[in-house]
Amino acid sequence: MSIVAPEGARISTLFSAEEIAVRVRELAGEIVAAMGPNPLVIPILKGSFIFAADLLRALHEAGAAPDMDFISLSSYGKGTQSLGEVKIVRDTEAEIAERDVLLVDDILESGRTLAFAKDLMAARRARSVRTCVLLDKKGKLAVDMKADFVGFDCADKFVVGYGMDVAHALRQLPFVGVVEH
Ligand code: IMP
Ligand code: MG
Repeated sequence: MSIVAPEGARISTLFSAEEIAVRVRELAGEIVAAMGPNPLVIPILKGSFIFAADLLRALHEAGAAPDMDFISLSSYGKGTQSLGEVKIVRDTEAEIAERDVLLVDDILESGRTLAFAKDLMAARRARSVRTCVLLDKKGKLAVDMKADFVGFDCADKFVVGYGMDVAHALRQLPFVGVVEH
């Protein structure tokens, strides 16, 4: 499928809604097998919100009863280049100590966002911290970070849709696409 973004750029499909749905169900099975039925799931907003919503329902289907909280982190600002510094925009509310935490993010790129979040949960004395990303942009790491659960390996392209944005636009696309210039 190819659609035209408001600015006139074409968007081509990288991962279709159907491919994503299949992979999300598989991930939920892997997560329940590794973490048991009661993880504390913490999506890193905003980019992961659609992935996390689908994953939560898949975890239910896989027999889990997860708790949820949210954290909002920012490293990109409005552009498409990571600024290198991670900031807490909105913090969690739940008690983290002694919980098995599953951090959920859209993309692993430099690794700074997930590493920051993982350190934060460890400092709050989580019993365990695991990480799940929809996309892994292999080879772009700036810090030592490996996700425990990965939806898809992703080429080094700027992607949009399924919750991910370019300058706050295109989160609503039901698939993961690439903006063609
Ligand atoms: P990292 O901290 O460099 O690993 O960057 C991860 C964050 O950057 C993700 O949570 C995304 O929000 C954002 N990001 C990285 N690559 C892309 C992209 O291709 N499209 C949209 N957001 C991206
Ligand atoms: Mg993000």
